[in-house]
Amino acid sequence: MIPTAGLLDADAGVLLAGLWEQLETQGYAVIPAGLPTPMVAQLYACVQELDDSAFNPAMVGRISTQQRNELVRTDAIHWIDGVKPATQTYLQAMEDVRQQLNRQLFLGLFEYECHFARYLPGCFYRRHLDAFRGDTNRVVSSVLYLNPDWAAADGGELVLYTDSGAEAGVGQNGAGSPAAVRVLPTFGTMVFFLSEKFPHEVLPARRTRYSIAGWFRINRMAPANMSSA
Ligand code: OGA
Ligand code: MN
Repeated sequence: MIPTAGLLDADAGVLLAGLWEQLETQGYAVIPAGLPTPMVAQLYACVQELDDSAFNPAMVGRISTQQRNELVRTDAIHWIDGVKPATQTYLQAMEDVRQQLNRQLFLGLFEYECHFARYLPGCFYRRHLDAFRGDTNRVVSSVLYLNPDWAAADGGELVLYTDSGAEAGVGQNGAGSPAAVRVLPTFGTMVFFLSEKFPHEVLPARRTRYSIAGWFRINRMAPANMSSA
């Protein structure tokens, strides 16, 4: 690794300790409390202030062919633009993470995009990949959970399907098939994973479940005949 020094290193070391090491060794990272609690609390306040009209039904598919598909996912989303101070702080934290991942893992990440997601009771997102082969710039996926006092009985786990089958029961409920990592969407927990490598799903919950899903992207050029969105 190239030796690095500077303010950003110190900042990134405080945020999300262990992130790049976990990503490097297993392709995903589960970090229960990697961000300052006040930051997460402000983001939770932000998402609660959004009224119904601010949430759009989530879409499925490539940008050119996106459609609502309630067999696949039933959550609603609100893209984050960083206008509110809490979201600006979060985007800055993810910018620090982007730079840290580029320095440590040479991922060449170019930008980050994210949205709030709201899963009403019973909502789900069936098994899927965040990156579509040959048609995406998403390299690393992130999820931050915003749900105080979430109990195992509330459900709503993220299930990550691993290649090796060696990991089981990571997260807080200790359950999981040999090829799956299950994570409860507990307040402040963050998950990162390689977008092209891990199919995953969101199980239905008994309570409303809030998260911020985001993606670090590379700047791969689209073929000349594709319009950019
Ligand atoms: C997604 C997603 C996971 C979660 O939005 O693509 O997989 O736990 N979210 O909210
Ligand atoms: Mn996903």
